[in-house]
Amino acid sequence: MKYIKIILLIVLIVSITEKGNAQSGITNSLHNFSSASWNQWGSNGLGGTSATSTSGRIGGQICAPCHAPHVYTSNVSPGSSVIGPMTSAPSNAPLWSHQLSAVTSYSTYSGYNMDSTALAQAAGGPVGTSKLCLSCHDGTVSMNYYRTFSASTSGIKPILMSAINGGASNLGTDLRNDHPISFVYDQGLSQRTNNGVYDPTSHASGIILGGSATNGTIQSDLLEGGTLLQCTSCHDPHNGAGAPHMLVKSNTASALCLTCHNK
Ligand code: HEC
Ligand code: HEC
Ligand code: HEC
Ligand code: HEC
Repeated sequence: MKYIKIILLIVLIVSITEKGNAQSGITNSLHNFSSASWNQWGSNGLGGTSATSTSGRIGGQICAPCHAPHVYTSNVSPGSSVIGPMTSAPSNAPLWSHQLSAVTSYSTYSGYNMDSTALAQAAGGPVGTSKLCLSCHDGTVSMNYYRTFSASTSGIKPILMSAINGGASNLGTDLRNDHPISFVYDQGLSQRTNNGVYDPTSHASGIILGGSATNGTIQSDLLEGGTLLQCTSCHDPHNGAGAPHMLVKSNTASALCLTCHNK
């Protein structure tokens, strides 16, 4: 009996410790949509929002709201065999299946003492992979607007970011209170006088993936195409590092900020 109690105690301690340690991988993140009520390919099937047939669909999927193995043209009827690239997806989008935001007038960070404004934040707002994030996080496109479904598909209730978790992850379209994104961060920027950022071509990123250091630089590990600072400079939508808030590395003692900022 005593031994059983001890074993049970050990099991309890181990399970508590495991919960205490953040686990990597999308399955252990808020991006695991497999049981989200709005996920038409999730374990809830149609989430009780539609009478549309689920026939042939494989439920419990995590990736479906963002990627599809064959990307369907947006906003076509369920069951339609129309397959093609998403009309407005960036050309480099990875098999992107979520409807993009139509917003073109984001208010972008104008800067306190930014040098990079001289290098121009993209006109018209964010570009590249940040647009993929904003397809949910700017709060204008419903979560369940992907693959062959849309808010306008009969019976599907649109669910916006504002309706999830009190809107905690809704950045909105005013990005002036968010870290600047979609601008060039190069060696030239690091050599300007005001900014105090490291040379991205030589400074180590300190990124650890799968338990091993990548030994890469800020440029190779954190900048899209080796040039642009994007949402993905700080976040990995697949939670590869297992850091809180799906950060690319832990920000304990501001370690993420100090990766680029020489402060
Ligand atoms: C919340 C949206 C989201 C979900 C869910 C998601 N991804 Fe991604 N994925 C992205 C974004 C955004 C990018 C482009 C930026 C990047 O590379 O991180 C991407 C890029 C990729 C890439 C190419 C670049 C790379 O990182 O390897 C692959 C492969 C990929 N995803 C696979 C998957 C698979 C497999 C799943 C499901 C297990 C999945 N993704 C789930 C958003 C998502
Ligand atoms: C991937 C590199 C990178 C990371 C990580 C990063 N920054 Fe930045 N940050 C930059 C660059 C580059 C600029 C633009 C500097 C410039 O143009 O003068 C910038 C701009 C800023 C600015 C605006 C400065 C101004 O003059 O208006 C602030 C404030 C800032 N970062 C704070 C932070 C904080 C806080 C963190 C951590 C949560 C962080 N940054 C993480 C690269 C980074
Ligand atoms: C298909 C819609 C969708 C896309 C695309 C998407 N997200 Fe999310 N994201 C969500 C939802 C839903 C949540 C959960 C919100 C909540 O519970 O507050 C979330 C949560 C998050 C969180 C909070 C995680 C935490 O633990 O606090 C971060 C950070 C995040 N997303 C970043 C990103 C980034 C960066 C991208 C692009 C690379 C992206 N997301 C693309 C839907 C999306
Ligand atoms: C310079 C680094 C940096 C960039 C760039 C960045 N984030 Fe974050 N983000 C963070 C950090 C750090 C946190 C953790 C919360 C905090 O410290 O305030 C966070 C938190 C979040 C959260 C959780 C908010 C909450 O209160 O639960 C979401 C969602 C999010 N980011 C989405 C995005 C999206 C989408 C983009 C691009 C438009 C983006 N982030 C760009 C560093 C960044």
